Amino acid sequence: MTIRAAIFDAYGTLFDVASAARRAAAEPGNEALAEAWPKLAEFWRQKQLSYTWLRTILGEHTDFWQVTQDGLDWTLAALGLDDPRLRDRLLALYRELDAYPEVPAMLRALKGEGMTTAILSNGAPDMLASAVASAGIGLHLDAVLSVEEVGVFKPDARVYKLVEARLGVHPSDVLFVSSNGWDAAGAAHFGFRTAWVNRAGEPPDRLPGRPERILRDLSDIPQLARSL
Ligand code: LAC
Repeated sequence: MTIRAAIFDAYGTLFDVASAARRAAAEPGNEALAEAWPKLAEFWRQKQLSYTWLRTILGEHTDFWQVTQDGLDWTLAALGLDDPRLRDRLLALYRELDAYPEVPAMLRALKGEGMTTAILSNGAPDMLASAVASAGIGLHLDAVLSVEEVGVFKPDARVYKLVEARLGVHPSDVLFVSSNGWDAAGAAHFGFRTAWVNRAGEPPDRLPGRPERILRDLSDIPQLARSL
């Protein structure tokens, strides 16, 4: 077995980023979201991510909590849903996103085989701590690494280098797992073994770096880590 560590992206990979809008839409008083929540979730995510890349180009880093709020504010304005109470509720729900159902058993299996497990995420440390706690998966994780240690977002190589710096595992012994095609490409380009969890059946990103495996969910990660 050559894989010593399984490293996971957080948002979209372990945590379902659409769950904040979906849960808010089901709450009394938020009837305006009944039809609009999928679009809200999609625009929010796209803006949040594009702000990470644009701020990197501009040399104006701020943390992921700020770009999450900025992306939400753009989205609420675009959809004509400006409402401070709704904004606060969506942000509160973002701090306790649902984990995908297969996550706890998958992490437990990796730990059972002596694998190092960790998150490597754009997320700010406090928002990651909150999501990990509410999903109850902290016991199965050896580390939660945030880009805030290096002050730059993925897919900058300084982020991926944090794994060896903090966990002492060489990139070729790492299985990096992301549902974000561009993150999987970035990690493969960096030198990790990579799996892209393509839940939505999207075409591969046309970027340098190709993921080695494409999976529909996280269930087969322990088996994949064993077989590489
Ligand atoms: C993360 C973003 C990319 O968790 O989803 O790093």
